[in-house]
Amino acid sequence: MSRILIAGNWKMNLNTSQASLLLHRLQERIKIHRDVEVVLFPSMLALQPLSVQIDRRKFRLGAQNAHYEDDGPFTGEVSISMLRELAHYVIVGHSDRRYKFGESEDMITRKVAACFRNDIIPILCVGETKQEKLAGEANQVLHDQLISALKNITSTEAAKLVIAYEPVWAISNGSNFTGHVTPKPDEVEKAVATIRKNLEALFGPRIAKKTRVLYGGSTNADNTRSYLQVEGVNGLLVGGASLNYHQFSSIVDAAYRVSKE
Ligand code: PGA
Repeated sequence: MSRILIAGNWKMNLNTSQASLLLHRLQERIKIHRDVEVVLFPSMLALQPLSVQIDRRKFRLGAQNAHYEDDGPFTGEVSISMLRELAHYVIVGHSDRRYKFGESEDMITRKVAACFRNDIIPILCVGETKQEKLAGEANQVLHDQLISALKNITSTEAAKLVIAYEPVWAISNGSNFTGHVTPKPDEVEKAVATIRKNLEALFGPRIAKKTRVLYGGSTNADNTRSYLQVEGVNGLLVGGASLNYHQFSSIVDAAYRVSKE
């Protein structure tokens, strides 16, 4: 099995001193784990100071978003090429970007290509909305999002890619809800199998097996283990719980225990 990847997406939270404090606390608690890769996604503003503070034996850094052009008249944007040497990963196509900022499939395709052009690994988020799920369209949505985002990449690039299955209806539900707010492990297993089937059609069986696939959506210290045990899941993309150092370090500990099983 590949190294488990635990990614913490801090979203639009924490100013630079708060971000630095959270990193400090995480560095105290999280040990060096050879079998678990932990990647933090602070705000764009905190990325540079954290890159100086970070213990690289324990963590890597990533960006939550960036522009696909390398430079030019794009006021307010930061390019993926500017993130070279600062970020290992960039999250591409997160549902916040798709649905709150109207990010199109074409922009996502370009961002994936820009990542590979700049030696940065994209974490491509895919997943159906509640309406699409209720209409029985989830598999079609996964297919369409993957085909579109990956149309310009080579098999060698696809082998490095990370995909996050993030059902939009399960994101930011926190841990206080009960009922149908997070998918059952077998629902995640089916979606991940669909993702790998699409990868196989695009790049062949070897790549389909090799590409890392994460689950994301209201993960926390209590459900980490059940999602990491799902066949085909190589890690988690954690949102809200990554802002709490107790939660996030417990998630990393749980991942470490699963890696030892
Ligand atoms: P959440 O966010 O864990 O707060 O649901 C996940 C994500 O948006 O990647």
